[in-house]
Amino acid sequence: MPFLKTSNLVSIERHIVEEGAMHPEATGEFSRLLRDFTLALRIVARDVRRAGLNDILGQTDAVNTHGERVKRLDIHANDVIIRTMERGGHLCVMASEENADLITIPQQLTCGKYVLVFDPLDGSSNIDVNVSIGTIFSIYRRLDEHDTGPGTLADVLQPGFRQVAAGYAMYGSSTQLVYTSGNGVDVFTFDPTIGEFLLTFEKIRIPQRGKIYSVNSGNAYKWPQGMRDYVSHLLRPSDDGLRPYSLRYVGTMVADIHRTLHYGGIFMYPPDSSAPSGKLRLVYEVNPMAFIMEQAGGRATDGHRRVLEVIPESLHQRLPCFMGSVDDVLEVESFLRAANEISG
Ligand code: AHG
Ligand code: MN
Ligand code: MN
Repeated sequence: MPFLKTSNLVSIERHIVEEGAMHPEATGEFSRLLRDFTLALRIVARDVRRAGLNDILGQTDAVNTHGERVKRLDIHANDVIIRTMERGGHLCVMASEENADLITIPQQLTCGKYVLVFDPLDGSSNIDVNVSIGTIFSIYRRLDEHDTGPGTLADVLQPGFRQVAAGYAMYGSSTQLVYTSGNGVDVFTFDPTIGEFLLTFEKIRIPQRGKIYSVNSGNAYKWPQGMRDYVSHLLRPSDDGLRPYSLRYVGTMVADIHRTLHYGGIFMYPPDSSAPSGKLRLVYEVNPMAFIMEQAGGRATDGHRRVLEVIPESLHQRLPCFMGSVDDVLEVESFLRAANEISG
């Protein structure tokens, strides 16, 4: 069997402990929180792998707060994360894409100083056809660290620049965990034979420009003019060989972002005439991915503003999303601006 190429074998737990050691104020609480969370991810990864065998595929009768038909695996992953995290004593409140309201910590359990928000299963439309899906999460510190009571909506609605850590797990041909705590982005690959996430890619950097764009082109007829101009531009061959771009779109944000992070280019979920704020949710999807992109040297905006500076107003708020290589995101922004100027 070929050996791992990394010179040091580092598990995610060791990595987080070492990062904590760089902060003298660290109490170890955060590393314990992360350890619990990676347990939840390991359980979800196992259940995703066995979904076809355990008859857990398909839909439920429920429709979620976004008006979408909920899949059984969505609910299962949500349940696993909540049950794993609520009793650790590290969290004061949680919020999930699948819950209309805040998820409070049961009264008999201890509240801690962190806030966890997550999209338990991203890529629902791909669940039943064995295409990559994932889990997205981010962690904040509660606003008043001395408060020992339950967390509030204000604790959850913090701007993205306040994220303490963010990441995603991708259940693909292998399970990988991509993680940042503001000190670059590291990739861990799950080794099922030992049950550990091992560091396989340290401080990943996204290329300055790519040659791939990723968007649901089926919505093109509803796009703003600037968006249509930009995509036509990408498809026009150029003498310098930079264009035309290739189109790749899995329809699972985690997978599309993962490829963009490695190969460069741009991932977009733009506004359109029937969804003026796009589809993706600021708190559970756009903010964690924006943090990761910036930490890998990329750029993430809503077409005009830096995502991480947007102040969330509600739990399930949506935000248009343009993220990836710096030069590509700057370029789409200039197309959107130019079209706005012409239309006044
Ligand atoms: P979720 O499965 O958590 O609801 O998220 C699905 C999202 C995201 O993963 C993906 O980028 C996007 O929906 C795809 O939407 P379209 O099918 O409209 O392109
Ligand atoms: Mn999602
Ligand atoms: Mn989801």
